[in-house]
Amino acid sequence: MTPRRATPDDAAGLTQLRLIMHQAVKPHCGLDWMPACEAAFARALAEQESMAVFVVDHPDGPGLIASAMGVWHPSLPGPTTTAMRSGEIGSVATDPDHRRRGHARACVAAARDWLVDEGCERVRLTPAPDATALYAALGFAPRDTYWTWRAAPVDTAP
Ligand SMILES: CC(C)(COP(=O)(O)OP(=O)(O)OC[C@H]1O[C@@H](n2cnc3c(N)ncnc32)[C@H](O)[C@@H]1OP(=O)(O)O)[C@@H](O)C(=O)NCCC(=O)NCCS
Repeated sequence: MTPRRATPDDAAGLTQLRLIMHQAVKPHCGLDWMPACEAAFARALAEQESMAVFVVDHPDGPGLIASAMGVWHPSLPGPTTTAMRSGEIGSVATDPDHRRRGHARACVAAARDWLVDEGCERVRLTPAPDATALYAALGFAPRDTYWTWRAAPVDTAP
């Protein structure tokens, strides 16, 4: 099934897929962030030209079974690229009942191709352990490392 570009009407389905993504790391994570996430998706999909999300619809009814989000950020030319934008891919998740059918691969490829069309020559992502083969097959490779500052301590309990 070919992914389509998400619209603001997909905000609830995208938030459910984001929950799947978070639960893969932390099975009992809280749910209080979901209304804000749904509102943010709806707003960004309506207004934010630097973001596109690619989704696969449930084959037998309403809802989504897979997603991948591309976002570009302004960047400055340097020795390795003269591109003025760099891309990032996130929100990659497939409903557990529909895995290993190529849906994530198709959504990530669509997000990457959109970022390239938007002028990106570099696209970053942070792979989960189960996703490294998926990204490697699409041409992603480990490069660079970065440190993160957070405003508040992170709850690392499972
Ligand atoms: C990782 C995830 C997105 C893969 O979704 P999917 O739709 O099943 O992936 P695809 O069918 O497109 O798989 C493409 C390739 O990725 C690799 N792959 C996918 N799932 C894998 C797994 N569990 N273990 C090892 N390799 C895997 C395989 O090489 C696969 O190709 P193949 O089926 O021909 O062998 C899905 O398992 C998921 O939602 N996991 C929880 C959330 C998560 O980890 N998201 C990624 C955040 S970076």
